[in-house]
Amino acid sequence: MATNKKANGERIYNLAAGDPVLSNHHSILQKAIQKTANGYCPYPPVEGMAELRRLTAEWMNITCKTQYSQDNVLVTCGGKFALFAIMYSLLTEGDEVLIPAPYWVSYPDIVKMAGGKPKIVLTSVEKRWKLTAQDLLKQVTKNTKMLIFNNACNPTGILYSRQEIKEILDVAKTHNLIVVSDEVYSGLVYEEPGFISCGSFHEHRERVLIIQSCSKNFGMTGWRVGFAVGPENIIKRLTALQSQSTTGVSVISQWAAIGALENADEVSSYVRESMKKRRDLFIKTFNTLFPGPIEEIKSALYAFVPLNSLGIHNISDSIAFCEQMMTSDNIALVPGCAFGVDGYVRFAFSETEDEIYQALQVLNQAIDNLIGV
Ligand SMILES: Cc1ncc(COP(=O)(O)O)c(C=O)c1O
Repeated sequence: MATNKKANGERIYNLAAGDPVLSNHHSILQKAIQKTANGYCPYPPVEGMAELRRLTAEWMNITCKTQYSQDNVLVTCGGKFALFAIMYSLLTEGDEVLIPAPYWVSYPDIVKMAGGKPKIVLTSVEKRWKLTAQDLLKQVTKNTKMLIFNNACNPTGILYSRQEIKEILDVAKTHNLIVVSDEVYSGLVYEEPGFISCGSFHEHRERVLIIQSCSKNFGMTGWRVGFAVGPENIIKRLTALQSQSTTGVSVISQWAAIGALENADEVSSYVRESMKKRRDLFIKTFNTLFPGPIEEIKSALYAFVPLNSLGIHNISDSIAFCEQMMTSDNIALVPGCAFGVDGYVRFAFSETEDEIYQALQVLNQAIDNLIGV
């Protein structure tokens, strides 16, 4: 509906897309332009450019306390293709994949496309939406092959502590599970305790596969550069799949990513500080307009909010509510159902501060009209 309205020239208030609206840092563009100025843009190496794989391993070793080398890194078309390649290469028909809910919308479908069976493990707001080792233990069967673990989390923004991750990885070890740790928001962490990577547990390195990406960490969503990081033998299997599917990531995008990683600290701070300002403005404006309150969002680009925090008590169907907001006032939100939990909506604060402010004002008026204030 939003796409049609936009095509008709209507103004959409976008609180849905997790796409940082931000100019690319100059080091990204400079590198891409400089390295392709000779007019030559060949096929990429299937596994990714050696320089990019090396820089990625170094960046992770510094920021995530991992111990990887370039042979542990495959450059993929976004983190999304890294996920797809892992599922497609490692799952066989009927393998169960545990997915804590709320989850990123694409996980269940990717698992199904690869022949696996998504098994949703509902977490609760009382436990701050965190998966515990006990929850995991209760769900494991002889068919369970994999856990998808998302830290820092979309849509809740939660962060796991070292102890919590250790306990989860210990259960995974006992039951021989592969842990796919989606860490694409590792650089967008605003509060202590900071981010802890599954890759920093060296005793578990044989079962951990990490999904990383330039999309959110460096504000490069459209360049489509992500990474699968893990044991060399698995990276080789994923490379074989990439060879017969995408052939690899566009060379100009890989140069752009090299530009970002050569200046990783600076680029990452630039994106994080911009998003932190938007988060602060979002929380302040939200808490002024709505009963809320939203107390804290520790990471990522989202707030996962129950409908009653918006002052809505007689609607629990999140899809109906979001459709209503789009139909009446062109406000784009994502219903909680898409993340496996109804009665909630997800807000993104990745638009500019002006846009966020205006969208929340329009939403406030739309809700007043809906509930008849
Ligand atoms: C949790 C999570 N994982 C992975 C991705 C994929 O990102 P990309 O393919 O742009 O790297 C996203 C994108 O929104 C996401 O939210």
